[in-house]
Amino acid sequence: MKRIGLLTSGGDCQALNATMRGVVKGLCNELDQVEIYGFEDGYKGLIYGEHRMLTSRDFSGILTVGGTILGTSRQPFKQMRVPDENGLDKVEAMKHTYYKLRLDCLVVLGGNGTQKTANLLSEEGLNVVSLPKTIDNDIWGTDMTFGFQSAVDIATNVIDCIHTTAASHNRVFIVEVMGHKVGWLTLHAGIAAGADIILLPEIPYDIDKVTEAIERRKKNGKGFTILAVAEGAISKEDAQLSKKELKKKMEKNPYPSVSYELAERIKEKTGQEVRITIPGHTQRGGSPCPYDRVLSTRLGAKAAELIINKEYGYMVTVKNDKMDKIPLKEIAGKLKMVSPDADIIKEAKMIGISFGN
Ligand code: F6P
Repeated sequence: MKRIGLLTSGGDCQALNATMRGVVKGLCNELDQVEIYGFEDGYKGLIYGEHRMLTSRDFSGILTVGGTILGTSRQPFKQMRVPDENGLDKVEAMKHTYYKLRLDCLVVLGGNGTQKTANLLSEEGLNVVSLPKTIDNDIWGTDMTFGFQSAVDIATNVIDCIHTTAASHNRVFIVEVMGHKVGWLTLHAGIAAGADIILLPEIPYDIDKVTEAIERRKKNGKGFTILAVAEGAISKEDAQLSKKELKKKMEKNPYPSVSYELAERIKEKTGQEVRITIPGHTQRGGSPCPYDRVLSTRLGAKAAELIINKEYGYMVTVKNDKMDKIPLKEIAGKLKMVSPDADIIKEAKMIGISFGN
């Protein structure tokens, strides 16, 4: 008999349900009795004891369903040690819920912030197993996060659609792609959709190089240019500022996002019309793609194995197509970024994609 607490935390993505299904099916298949306590809206449910009992039936038919049947919310790690408005100690409250329900293990699905809190709870003595969720693919220690590939598919489709209209009108188009502080999503969608210029946070851009690439295309008879721009992309000037200086500059920044500033600068320098498309949260929506369904099922099965073997304090990972585990303390607070020297960047440059540097 195992009593499992389950929660999904942070921004949602397409394969959360598929992953929970994998965990629960794995446990129910191997164990005689499993009690599942689903916490509502992420750590919030654990803090305030908002939960409902679930059975394996609740996890049937959800492989293809996006979002999360448990709900989710952002509970910033930084705020975890700060009492709530009623003076409640959140960490103690989470421990209280865990012990009150006599849980054997807490299973947490989430991104970087979520993993930090999972590590904190593990250090506080709770049995925790976590799984790497995010469309950003920026979790340290795993080759891939679930949700990423589904988001790549959506962003790629957006750029594909923009391609035809950009070509008809001879326009410069910017498609702004999510990804928070890293460029994985933009890089993959940009290459998959044949973007001409890809701007990533990891490779600060030089506006002159960006416009040179646009002009070069014009000279070669291509009147349109597609830029895949990460929401975290940054100019080389801004990248040189200290955190404090950048924050000050951003406070006065009139642009809603990086694409608007970039569009204005391109127009000034080339005189070309620039349009912006921001797919935004559509990138986290809809059904998980087949790749994610498989990955989630495998990660979920691995998490079930860890729970059955009482191996706690780990995040489940995928490395070279093998499901594995890594201690939470080794990944908490680390970010997996695109290396500017990576082969994928060299290969993209080789075929003429500009990174604006
Ligand atoms: O981490 C996933 C993500 O979609 C990022 O790519 C993006 O920056 C952020 O979440 C958006 O957060 P929210 O849903 O809170 O607006």
